[in-house]
Amino acid sequence: ALPTTFDEAVDLAIIGGTGLYQLDCLKPVAVLPPIQTPWGATSSPITIAVFIGDSNTTNNKFVVAFISRHGINHEFPPTHVPFRANIAAIKKLQCKAVLSFSAVGSLQEHIKPRDFVLPQQLIDRTKGIRNSSYFNEIGLVGHVGFGNPFSTKFADFIYQFKDILTNPDSDEPCLMHYDQDTTVICMEGPQFSTRAESKMYKMLGGDIINMSVIPEAKLARECELPYQMICMSTDYDAWRDHEDSVTVDAVFGHLANNGRNANALATKIVKEMAKNLPEFMINGDGLKGSIKMSVATK
Ligand code: ADE
Repeated sequence: ALPTTFDEAVDLAIIGGTGLYQLDCLKPVAVLPPIQTPWGATSSPITIAVFIGDSNTTNNKFVVAFISRHGINHEFPPTHVPFRANIAAIKKLQCKAVLSFSAVGSLQEHIKPRDFVLPQQLIDRTKGIRNSSYFNEIGLVGHVGFGNPFSTKFADFIYQFKDILTNPDSDEPCLMHYDQDTTVICMEGPQFSTRAESKMYKMLGGDIINMSVIPEAKLARECELPYQMICMSTDYDAWRDHEDSVTVDAVFGHLANNGRNANALATKIVKEMAKNLPEFMINGDGLKGSIKMSVATK
């Protein structure tokens, strides 16, 4: 069994699901039991893995922490994920950036199931029932710039590897969509949208929709951590009136392919980061010291 403690700083946090714990280039060195924080326990144990390199790389030390957003048995629905504990644990491990994976529905014809998307904007359509700040209960008011909720430097870094995506079941290539207005809608769920809501989200400028980016992105920002989500399309949501009925086989095929592509992409990202730590992880992407505090005077 692996050790249950790890005392060195971690470089990168990866929030995702199953299939991402084992990357070829990494060796697990510890499994931390769910970490207790002032905001509760993390949604899963945290697997710590170190870069082992290959013949083309120098053996720089590079450490990754994996956390499973919905728990290892998928026990946390989106509304009940302990987001504050997860991001606080990531901060405590001294991670320099957060890479997050999420399944999404597509609100645009050109974003096909199995395509990946790097959103740069988001619209919060959750219902205000998730704890979205660390500053609620502590008598401090923290004001956080959130005009650009994702890390463009991180997205640029990821986008270099867009050609790694494959689609062995089809002649259609899998694409990676990325520009500065690419917008993810975050809804509360757990029910999916009605057709009318889905069309409204298109009108609002949404490109994709999920249930997880809020409050993860807000909390990462409060912790001054560069954050980028890699969204993996599984469906066309409900806006296509004459949509062919979706089959279970099709969805499982998309999920399996997305998992393989997520693994290949994460492997590439980790290898390149280990070779050459990107600037935004060294300098904190301009976020260090960005939070302005004031003491509540009530
Ligand atoms: N996650 C995957 N597909 C989704 C959809 N259509 N709506 C919300 N979240 C999703």
